[in-house]
Amino acid sequence: MKKTVKTLVAAGLMVAAASSMFAAKKKAPAKKLITVGYAQVGAESDWRLANTTSFKETFTEANGYKLIFDDAQQKQENQIKAIRSFIQQDVDYIVVAPVVETGWGTVLQEAKAAGIPVILSDRQMTGVDDLYLCWVGGNFLQEGRDGVKWLEGYLKKIGRDKDEINIVDLQGTIGASAQIGRTQGIEEGIAAHKNWKLVAQQTGEFTQSKGQEVMESILKSTPKIDVVFAENDNMAWGAIDAIKAAGKKPGKDIIIICFDAVHETFNKMIAGEINCAVECNPLHGPRVDEIIKTLEAKGPKGIKSKIQYVVEEVFDQENAAAKLPTRKY
Ligand code: AHR
Repeated sequence: MKKTVKTLVAAGLMVAAASSMFAAKKKAPAKKLITVGYAQVGAESDWRLANTTSFKETFTEANGYKLIFDDAQQKQENQIKAIRSFIQQDVDYIVVAPVVETGWGTVLQEAKAAGIPVILSDRQMTGVDDLYLCWVGGNFLQEGRDGVKWLEGYLKKIGRDKDEINIVDLQGTIGASAQIGRTQGIEEGIAAHKNWKLVAQQTGEFTQSKGQEVMESILKSTPKIDVVFAENDNMAWGAIDAIKAAGKKPGKDIIIICFDAVHETFNKMIAGEINCAVECNPLHGPRVDEIIKTLEAKGPKGIKSKIQYVVEEVFDQENAAAKLPTRKY
């Protein structure tokens, strides 16, 4: 690693203990903080806010860190600027949750030239495998497939598995891993069912307001909609408002499936307005902390796996009330 905080903790403690016997008021030397620059996507969703909180609560001085946090407002150019500023500030580690997957080669080369290790969290980057150490996050393709699997089972249960099913896909930010994986899972599911039809597919940019706006226009142009896949919670909440304004009942007239599963989505499942939520876990602060502590102690060889998926669940109206009290975000 470029800079390690490998202080001789044990030896230091022994010296401190011995000297305290003779000079009780002598202070132990201050431990050097590890400086981490976090290039965050933005504040577009409740998931994202929970992710930011997770980093801010983990990367504290008490835990041995100085955190430099940057909110890129969903713009890749802002994240590139933030990474360059972290390099100038000579941080110990750079952590990036990339807005989109492509276009990172130049700036990651600059980080490499400066000898600063890069860790990815949440979304992934493509074509730069040799320029980052490891990634931790959700399996977005699996999430899409899980949503499809849930729909198959639900349609069978309510006796509609042979009906023609018209599906809307409200996509996330185009080019983001969370959009690419979920869209692929949904499209695969539609292709595998002769009676399922994709009647509209448009980005709602992972925000509630855009999700509502896009759903309002789709409702005007598409007479029969049976299912909405919203590629995150906030877009589902926006779509629900649009569906209600159009005089239809979300969760009943139109089946709603979304991704993230934050508290408010559990409330909406309990209220009958969302049918299924596929979890995307945002609590990556402690996971990145563990990676950095491993690097500090053992170097890059200590990292067992470059790609680290987190375990995620599927929730619906049957288990939402029982699960809600156990949920952390
Ligand atoms: O990358 C994770 C996605 O980004 C979450 O599903 C979404 O809510 C967020 O904005």
